Amino acid sequence: MKIVRTAGELRAELAEERAADRTVGFVPTMGALHEGHLSLVRLARSSTAAVVVSIFVNPLQFGPSEDFEAYPRDEAHDLELLEREGVDIVFIPRARDVWAQPPTTLVSVGELSRIVEGAIRPGHFDGVATVVATLFNLVRPDVAYFGQKDAQQVAVIKKMVTDLAWPIEIRVGPTVRDPDGLALSSRNVYLNAAERTRATSLWRALQEGERSLASGDALETTEKVMWEALVAGGVEPDYASVVDPDTFGPVDTQAGSLLVIAAHVGSTRLIDNLLVNREA
Ligand code: PAJ
Repeated sequence: MKIVRTAGELRAELAEERAADRTVGFVPTMGALHEGHLSLVRLARSSTAAVVVSIFVNPLQFGPSEDFEAYPRDEAHDLELLEREGVDIVFIPRARDVWAQPPTTLVSVGELSRIVEGAIRPGHFDGVATVVATLFNLVRPDVAYFGQKDAQQVAVIKKMVTDLAWPIEIRVGPTVRDPDGLALSSRNVYLNAAERTRATSLWRALQEGERSLASGDALETTEKVMWEALVAGGVEPDYASVVDPDTFGPVDTQAGSLLVIAAHVGSTRLIDNLLVNREA
């Protein structure tokens, strides 16, 4: 496994892969790796010849009062895990290795970035789209892998790639959960024991939402069911909505519905989602 820290080193390693005509699969991450990340690495390993993983805690996607400084970092452990998965190249840049100067060019996909999660975290999806665009330009992958866990991020990246006509295929891996349903997240380490117990109410709320939709409830009723399940579980909801999985706007029942929730568990903010009635 090659560990590279600068764009120049990355370019040199990728040139070898391209010379050997190997398709490049890319998994961007912010580190503090868990089974959710590793499931994407395995997906890449099983379907592309050369697997590139980036570890970069992207300052652009954190708001001023968010947890950029506190975000968990464990490079040695991350590298051990990636080595075990047979990754070819790990790109671990410092901010100045990605951008010599802080970037003033932002990639924004528009309305999709400003609704639902984007309404609560202004600028977050511009930060995500900008870093992913930069990383795509550095890695130039054939296929890039993202987790359904961050459903709106998936929608934003897919729209960006389509709008800009980039020849990159986006593949989405399913959300990996603990046995009690809590979606794995690097931020779960912030939870104390009591909060960890309360955090299971996110998954319960999504399941109750799914049952409500299946029973034919109106969308507003389903949203209320999820909201109340969150409150009853001792967490503080930011939103509990039923949206279209691609636009995050009003749901088109033919295309399926996405249940999306965000809630504060103590001082930790968690998000989760569940896709229902999606035609294959
Ligand atoms: P990060 O939160 O580290 O996640 C990296 C990738 O792992 C994302 O595609 C995310 O959706 C996926 N992932 C996280 N938890 C998962 C789970 N429980 N099951 C399946 N996949 C999961 O998402 C980011 O980093 C950043 O925004 C990034 C795209 C790297 C841009 O900075």
